[in-house]
Amino acid sequence: MSAPKGGSLRATATRMIHQVAHEGQSLGQLLPPITATLPVDERGRLQDWCFGSCRWWHRLQAELQTRLRKPLPRRNAMLESLLILGLYQLRFTRIAPHAAIHETVETARELGAPKSLTGLVNGILRNALRDGEPPFESDAVHYSHPEWLVAKIKANWPEQWPALLEANNCKPPMTLRFNRQHHDQQSAQSALADAGITASPGELAANAIRLAEPCPVDRIPGFHEGYFSVQDEAAQLCTELLELEPGQRVLDACAAPGGKTGAILEAEPRLSEVVAMDMDRDRLGLITENLERTGTHARLIAADAAETDSWWDGTEFDRILLDAPCSGTGVIRRHPDIKLLRRETDIAELADTQLRLLEGCWSTLRNGGRLVYATCSVLQQENKRIIQRFINSHMDAQLVPITLDWGEETGYGRQLITGSQDQDGFFYACLVKSPAHWV
Ligand SMILES: C[S@@+](CC[C@H](N)C(=O)[O-])C[C@H]1O[C@@H](n2cnc3c(N)ncnc32)[C@H](O)[C@@H]1O
Repeated sequence: MSAPKGGSLRATATRMIHQVAHEGQSLGQLLPPITATLPVDERGRLQDWCFGSCRWWHRLQAELQTRLRKPLPRRNAMLESLLILGLYQLRFTRIAPHAAIHETVETARELGAPKSLTGLVNGILRNALRDGEPPFESDAVHYSHPEWLVAKIKANWPEQWPALLEANNCKPPMTLRFNRQHHDQQSAQSALADAGITASPGELAANAIRLAEPCPVDRIPGFHEGYFSVQDEAAQLCTELLELEPGQRVLDACAAPGGKTGAILEAEPRLSEVVAMDMDRDRLGLITENLERTGTHARLIAADAAETDSWWDGTEFDRILLDAPCSGTGVIRRHPDIKLLRRETDIAELADTQLRLLEGCWSTLRNGGRLVYATCSVLQQENKRIIQRFINSHMDAQLVPITLDWGEETGYGRQLITGSQDQDGFFYACLVKSPAHWV
């Protein structure tokens, strides 16, 4: 089955869903160049179809298996993505079912499916409409997650797992950070209200403001001048934990696209220097864009933060933020394609990288300095166990308890569980370098 470029919106969605499921590409990479060329209503539909099909992939795929008498030929793999999209429309959207079926069959034709297969698409969707959704054979199917991830989440969060998995399938709120240099909570709210945007103060972070409905950034007053930035509240908590003070030298070790670098610079504009580092040279450009918009400045370095010989000038840092690369299992509600992209074997590899980064960064921290370790993961393997392993092998590392009233204390840092207080899943641990602790 060929996949000509262009064509209908459903064909475009099908191709993208297929690229996520079979080629390991993320919607974050695939969607922006396409949506930029589309009118607003089509943009919204394309996003909804791609996000929704990924969000419910595992559940819809289980249904598809029960409806197919034999597996689809490999050369027709794209038809699986089209059928998932068709089922998504029947089960989770308000599109008139007969229109959804008709358009999906037309898309199969457009994608080059032979008559026998367009007939198959028609038959499967008609039966699905007539019969309703089959019973769920497992929690993984019910909550539409991969089996391995459900098993890990259940083991890590024996009480919270149903609510966590449920929250992963909900649409997240859009949250802004207002720039303290330009606004306080009250003026931020009234500026938004004047622009017809309903918002309320965040629950956890001082500069957070939550929109009643997501809206394009162009509608946010002063967005392009840096008065507001889009940032989830959980991510905003890093600045408070860093305890920033004037004159400090700060390292943001895994900084791109620069959301937290911007938050640091806004929270304490009198720092002596902020070094923003990322291994991905292309993503450093995103930090520049973010900082130019907010009128702030950092020294950018493209390097592997763990390989200190390659980038460190020997001047120690007072504060380090290590927002480590992770599974992203705390932000599945924002990026449902994570369910298809992540593999069980990734987690141990990520844990090795996280520990390696912690070791490297630690060597550049001054005595008495503070390092904040953060991930947007809900897996203990990447969170409390990293800190536990690190502390057990570094006598000069002291864990500072986080005594704030959010999240769960794990004994080695604090975990926000996705959905609780309507937050993203996030983990923070604060470590202080204390040689006195050694003796
Ligand atoms: C969770 S994201 C950082 C998000 C960023 N702190 C923000 O708030 O906008 C992790 C980043 O780590 C970078 N990264 C991965 N491995 C790295 C390494 N060894 N050294 C430096 N950066 C790395 C990735 O390119 C990615 O941009």
